[in-house]
Order: sequence, then C-alpha cells, then structure tokens
Amino acid sequence: MPPRVLPAVRMLPHISREDIGMTGSTAKIELGGDAHEFKVRKGSVGPDVIDIGALYKDTGMFTYDPGFTSTASCESKITYIDGDEGVLLHRGYPIDQLAEHGDFLEVCYLLLYGDLPTKAQKEDFDFRVTRHTMVHEQMSKFFSGFRRDAHPMAVMCGVVGALSAFYHDSTDISDPHQRMVASIRLIAKMPTIAAMAYKYHIGQPFVYPKNELNYAANFLHMCFAVPCEDYKVNPVLARAMERIFILHADHEQNASTSTVRIAGSSGANPFACIAAGIACLWGPAHGGANEAALAMLAEIGSVDKIPEFIAKVKDKNSQVRLMGFGHRVYKNYDPRAKIMQQMCHKVLKETGHANDPLLPIALELEKIALNDPYFIERKLYPNVDFYSGITLKAMGFPTSMFTVLFAVARTVGWISQWSEMIQDPQQKIGRPRQLFSGATTRDYVDISKRK
Ligand code: ACO
Repeated sequence: MPPRVLPAVRMLPHISREDIGMTGSTAKIELGGDAHEFKVRKGSVGPDVIDIGALYKDTGMFTYDPGFTSTASCESKITYIDGDEGVLLHRGYPIDQLAEHGDFLEVCYLLLYGDLPTKAQKEDFDFRVTRHTMVHEQMSKFFSGFRRDAHPMAVMCGVVGALSAFYHDSTDISDPHQRMVASIRLIAKMPTIAAMAYKYHIGQPFVYPKNELNYAANFLHMCFAVPCEDYKVNPVLARAMERIFILHADHEQNASTSTVRIAGSSGANPFACIAAGIACLWGPAHGGANEAALAMLAEIGSVDKIPEFIAKVKDKNSQVRLMGFGHRVYKNYDPRAKIMQQMCHKVLKETGHANDPLLPIALELEKIALNDPYFIERKLYPNVDFYSGITLKAMGFPTSMFTVLFAVARTVGWISQWSEMIQDPQQKIGRPRQLFSGATTRDYVDISKRK
C-alpha cells in the first residue's frame, strides 16, 4: 500500500512549554480515530520539536513541508537564531560582541571547537591555519582550464571540489585527525583560492599568501597586490573585511549548510561537500543576494525613482523583489545588517566613496520599506546583504566576487556543521520522501503506436 501523506492533523493536547519536561512529554496525533504518541524534545532555547522519526513506521504516512519551514533536520549546538527577536548567537556568544571584539580565526575556533580559545590555543590555531594557506602548486595550472570570463563562483565550485584530488590524506572521514586537517585546510586555503579566482578573472598574476598578515589582511593582499609595486593593506579595510567574514561565518541550517550536511550524510569527503555548499550559495535567493541588491540599486538609479520601484515590488504579477530584504528566519531586523550598515559608512568614508550615489538610494529605500504596510505586514526587514554590496564595492571588489567572499567566510560554518554531523550518533543519510502526484503504473507503448 503506498504511504499516505498526513492530512490536516489534530494535535492533542495543545503543547505548551509548561507541559514539557526533558523526558516523557508527548504530542498525540489522531488519525482516523487512532491516537499516536510522539516524543516532544526540548532544546536549550527555542521552539520544542515533535520527534516524528517513527511516524511512517507507526502510521504509514509522511509529513509534507516544502522548504522545511516547520522541520528541524538535525540537532545542533553551534548556532542559535531567534528570528522574531533578531538574535544570532554562536555557541552562545552574540554576533555583535564577536564582531566588535573578536577576530575571524577566534570565531573559527569557537565554531569548530565550541569555546573561545585561550591565548595559547589561539596562537596554536593561528599557526596551523597560517601554515596551510598555500595550495598545491599544480592547482594553479587547474585555473587555466577555465575561460577568463568565467564567473568566479563557477571557478570556486570546480577548484574547491578538486581539493579532494590534491589532499588525499585528509579525506578519510572516519579519522578525527584527518577531519580536523581537512577543516584547517579548507579554512586556510579558501581565501587563497578565492583570490586566485579573482586574479585569473582580471588577468593578473597570482599573489602568494603572506603569513605575517592576519587572515583578512592576507586575503586583501592576495586580491589587490601586484608584483610590480608594494601594496600596504589599509588597516581600516582589513578590519572591515575581518568583520564581514565574522558576520557571515555561520547561520545554522540555511540552504547551503543543509546542502553540505546532506552531501556529507552519504559519506562524501569534506572538500566535495563544501563544493556542494558553494554551488547552493551561488543562488540569488541565498548568497547571490548582495550582488543582486547592488544591481537593484544601480537599476533604480536615483532616489526619485524609488516609489516607482516599490510599486513594482508590491505588484503580485511583477516577480520583482526588494533584494537584500526579507529572510526565512528573521522576522525582525537582521542583527548582522545593523553592523553592516555601520561598517558601510566607515568603509565609504575611508575609501573616499562617501558620495557613492547608491548610498542615498539604499538609505531611502530602507526608510520607505520600514514604514510601508506591505513590508511591515510581511515582517520584511533589511538582511545582511542589503549593505554588504555597497561596502564590498567601495573596498574594490567587483560584484562577481561578492558571493565568493561569502563562501570564504561561510566555509568555517559549513565545516563545523559537517563535523558535528559526522560525530552525531543519530546521523543517517539524508533522504527526504515525497508526495507523489504523477502517473500511476501504465504499460509501455511502442513508438509507432503512440498518439
Ligand atoms: N521583496 C518583496 N516581497 C517579499 C520579499 C522581498 N525581498 N521577500 C518576501 N516577500 C514577500 C513574498 O512575496 C510573500 O508575500 P505574499 O505573502 O503576499 O505572497 C511574503 O513576503 C513571504 O515571502 P516568502 O517568499 O514566502 O518568504 P521566504 O521565507 O520563503 O523567503 C527569502 C525568504 C528567499 C530570503 C525572500 O525574503 C527573498 O527572496 N528575499 C530577497 C533575496 C535576499 O535578500 N536573499 C538573502 C537572504 S539572506 C542570506 O542568504 C544571507
């Protein structure tokens, strides 16, 4: 008998926090007169979950939840988001504190290991990451296989996937040491590969990593230095880059992270999994949004054209969205967007772009959108991408590099989540089911007899 999909389900009784203890709390689902009980699990904070792992076995039914809007796909201790309150915590630490006081490698350590490092741990971690920043020399030949006008994200998908062909000694996922070496390699090499993708795109020679520089400054150096003259990294821009990396480091079970987890659930090696995450991140509804937000500001062109654009956004038939606005989880101001907005002003001032004509358009758009009932009713607030595009442009990056920078920053989140998944005793291959609405069994018809 084909499995049935749950119809409207009656939950008995209504579950409130008070009803729930760590053990013994259940949700009852009544189906055709039969009651089925499922355990309710309580997290340390955030909504409780009904553990429906046995639902199919008990009832012959699946649940239907496109986009996983009501589904927790895993248990995690890494990142917590309260979308209604606009809160983002990494291992308990608020993102604004990490962005204000931390450096990126400290946040990497926190995400990977669970706690902020001591001074000695931090020095050791920095040393290990720094000593892995070069890529195998043969990899540079790999780049020349791409067209010069290839999108750097296309290059990233290919080259990062190819890491597994270069670092065979860190692809055995059952070995904790190899897993850690792969994690360090990915965090360390991603800026180098990203900078190489950029240099290849603009036809300049690759610049090798400089280990005396910190993570963000080294990245700027590899992107903007040329062999024929000295390049001094601007400390204001290096700090801004560092903070942009911190703001994008992890965001719990977003589309690309879930992609990495699903890819890894089959036992695929970490380099291949991160390449899958990069492919997912590329989409304009996810990491591609800052590129799209900047293109949108340029398309609007001037403040007086904003009302016309907003009317298009509100028109159901237009398919136009306000890019950099809205979020699946945040139904409040994205806490990262606040920090990004402040940083945007600092970077524009430092780089002499304070008069960038796109900035007044962004500020006015934000003001209008925050006061317009269409956006208020739908709880659409600026997300981190709304200001990151203008900031990155002022720093000298072309729009095609924006999502690449996001991938550099998110690598630590992806690999931390992957590592947590591999060690989770509950871990199974990710294999969702479906509500099938296609043709049922029919017999093959010879081509001469088909109508
Ligand atoms: N502009 C205009 N309307 C919007 C927007 C937007 N940016 N986002 C959502 N809406 C509207 C929808 O049309 C819908 O309206 P309706 O109820 O009248 O049909 C309602 O708000 C709910 O939208 P959904 O698409 O159901 O929300 P979902 O949670 O699936 O989408 C998403 C979230 C993809 C981020 C969406 O808000 C969006 O497309 N935003 C623009 C792209 C963007 O900035 N992405 C970056 C996300 S953050 C990141 O990846 C770092």
